[in-house]
Amino acid sequence: MTDKVRIDTLSANSLPQRNETFLARQAEFESNVRSYPRKLPFAIAKAKGVWITDVENNQYLDCLAGAGTLALGHNHPDVLESIQSVITSGLPLHTLDLTTPLKDEFSAYLLSLLPGQGKEYCLQFTGPSGADAVEAALKLAKKVTGRSGIISFSGGYHGMTHGALSVTGNLSPKEAVDGMMPEVQFMPYPNEYRCPLGIGGEAGVKALTYYFDNLINDVESGVRKPAAVILEAVQGEGGVNPAPKEWLQRIRKVTQEHGILLILDEVQAGFARTGKFFAFEHAGIEPDIIVMSKAVGGGLPLAVLGIKKQFDAWAPGHHTGTFRGNQLAMATGLTTLKILKNQDIAAKVAAKGDWLKAKLAELQKRYPVIGHVRGLGLMIGIEIVKPQEAQDHMGCYPADGELSALLQKKCFEAGLILERGGRHGSVLRLLPSLLIDNAELEVFLDKFENAMLAAGVKPV
Ligand SMILES: Cc1ncc(COP(=O)(O)O)c(C=O)c1O
Repeated sequence: MTDKVRIDTLSANSLPQRNETFLARQAEFESNVRSYPRKLPFAIAKAKGVWITDVENNQYLDCLAGAGTLALGHNHPDVLESIQSVITSGLPLHTLDLTTPLKDEFSAYLLSLLPGQGKEYCLQFTGPSGADAVEAALKLAKKVTGRSGIISFSGGYHGMTHGALSVTGNLSPKEAVDGMMPEVQFMPYPNEYRCPLGIGGEAGVKALTYYFDNLINDVESGVRKPAAVILEAVQGEGGVNPAPKEWLQRIRKVTQEHGILLILDEVQAGFARTGKFFAFEHAGIEPDIIVMSKAVGGGLPLAVLGIKKQFDAWAPGHHTGTFRGNQLAMATGLTTLKILKNQDIAAKVAAKGDWLKAKLAELQKRYPVIGHVRGLGLMIGIEIVKPQEAQDHMGCYPADGELSALLQKKCFEAGLILERGGRHGSVLRLLPSLLIDNAELEVFLDKFENAMLAAGVKPV
């Protein structure tokens, strides 16, 4: 008989339960690549709903929710129960890409949520990260079209593997590694506050729309016809930028006319986050490939593509991966999807988002460092600016990444977890549980204002 191995998660060892002890050990154990602990310097003991408790028993309102993964917040009872049901069912924990009754139900349910109840789509389970699903989508588009180019957009974020990073806008991780994927053409993505063409407003959107159409049709553009266009309908990491409807609709039309696959990356914006089940629904378009991860696994790792059946050009085994059959993730994902759908969470998220943006607009009147409040549903960005400096010709003040970083720190000290994104990290981003209620949003507003005061920001 061997000794039974028992792991006691809450007091795993006899270490003093101090944040700094765990952080120092983490720094010793792990690579310099770790990122969140530098901004959120704590060790987590437990979490429930929108709240996280650290090992020193401090409580934090979590407006990051595992980077948008935990659509129902931490440890939702139904999600936990679904894990229990897998454990007691005798199912294997993972099954490669072999099927099970649970996988069958998950697949049928997920398909039913895609455009046209998914009748024209099939699913591809990939390795369990958003980045691997993006890789699969790019490879498939190349295979379908026999072309190699990809068009992507400034401010886009698609992950950190070689292909996904190649189509990502953020230059910092790209400059660290040579040899990105060739033939990636970046185009400007609309930005309501800082129009990349320097025009702004409706006219700016019209010009961007024309620019895309013209580039694809211009035989002297210098850009070979691409295999695919990849984009987020609401950019997340790029600073919370919702795409205008008419721009998305024109891209859909032009790509269709030219046999270019349109890949919608819904990894962050999907699953009721923006007030619609998928963010592309705001424009009423149908993508050729839909990239899904984060919330689709209900908090556990899972990634899956929705592929229009006519583009399913894969031969068996041409994009594999060991962990494509995580049964626990399918159970937690299925539970999450059913709650989102049955309780019409998307509509509730839209209303909560509008309420919160109105409150933030009031705050903006008193705090001119808030340059712009934007987003859809519970995917909200607050751009921090330098109001003491000169406005540009579109009326925007320079971005203030330094103050934004200080505000993130002061929020953390006040017990509020927020992420940053956008150019110079100047956009404070909210991605809370979709079940956050108005009382909790009031707590957010209180803590956020206190953090501004603690950062030395003066109201007017
Ligand atoms: C829109 C989008 N695509 C892809 C990814 C990459 O997903 P992962 O981090 O799981 O590889 C992310 C991650 O934040 C994302 O926001």
